[in-house]
Amino acid sequence: MKSDFGITTKKESAALYSLKNQNGMEIAISNYGAILVKVLIPDREGKLIDVVLGYDDVQGYESGTLYFGATVGRVANRIGGGTFELKGKTYRLTQNDNQNTLHGGIDYYDKRMWEVEEADETHVSLKLDSPDGDQGFPGAVEIHVTYTLTEENEVKLHYHAVPKEDTLLNLTNHSYFNLSGHASGTILEQEVMICADEFTRADAESIPTGELVSVEGTPMDFRSRKPIGREIEADYEALVLGHGYDHNWALNGSGYRQVAAMYSKQTGIEMKVYTDLPGMQFYTGNFIEREKGKAGAVYEKRQGTCFETQYFPDAVHKEQFEGPVVRAKEVYDSITTYQFSWK
Ligand code: BGC
Repeated sequence: MKSDFGITTKKESAALYSLKNQNGMEIAISNYGAILVKVLIPDREGKLIDVVLGYDDVQGYESGTLYFGATVGRVANRIGGGTFELKGKTYRLTQNDNQNTLHGGIDYYDKRMWEVEEADETHVSLKLDSPDGDQGFPGAVEIHVTYTLTEENEVKLHYHAVPKEDTLLNLTNHSYFNLSGHASGTILEQEVMICADEFTRADAESIPTGELVSVEGTPMDFRSRKPIGREIEADYEALVLGHGYDHNWALNGSGYRQVAAMYSKQTGIEMKVYTDLPGMQFYTGNFIEREKGKAGAVYEKRQGTCFETQYFPDAVHKEQFEGPVVRAKEVYDSITTYQFSWK
């Protein structure tokens, strides 16, 4: 179902596409930014709970700076120094996070109108034409993102792109989840599991040093499910530098597999995360501050958490990290799924 989502400052009208399944789940996606705006799960009484942070209309998303529900590209996460070399040429990007580039630079993909290619009750496909030189990156690329809501309660995100020239690509979704409901307070008591034996150590500006550190015996160990808040205040380098969890976990295994889970005792809602990518930024909303959100909610620090599946941050500068160079006419194709269950 298509509905009105307001008018942008450029006088473009935005639309919201709602998808439903037979189990009572509903999600909504905006053509502005290819943003995941709502994820509604029936609670024990059958009332719908929205488990993602966000805004009521397109104006909220236009002025927001926290990437709620955003589709992020060309290169999600950080590129150290805001510059890189490809085929002997140096490219300069916007330095929007200290001296570094974060989430593509200031001309964000989630602040643009995407073209809706297909839409029905179960899926919506969106397209963005990113020209040669966009955000400073070489090579034109048509980016396709398809959101599907399945009868297995999966929110499936399929990314597909074929660049015209060699370039970098690392697409992610920046949804902030709170499985007790978007306006329920902090996520500290909710439990998380991450299938990773190692994480990438990072410096004070969140640029990986290149080292992989074992999670064993550290607060970064989420191999067994534990409350997010259990060790978040520990005097441990990564937590001090990140002001909480804000790191890339080197996910175990390869290919499409389950990589994480989250659970709220309060609602009985569980989410499993699947991806074919090697890394995931687990970010606990450490920088949210008095953010006016949906239906009068005011979001504060640690009231939502992101599971941003990705190639490792700054991979372009680290030989030992896979990706994110995609050659001309090579296919970039990736799937990340957030699957829900409730009791
Ligand atoms: C980054 C955080 C940043 C956030 C923006 C995350 O991907 O790792 O450091 O503050 O995005 O909301």
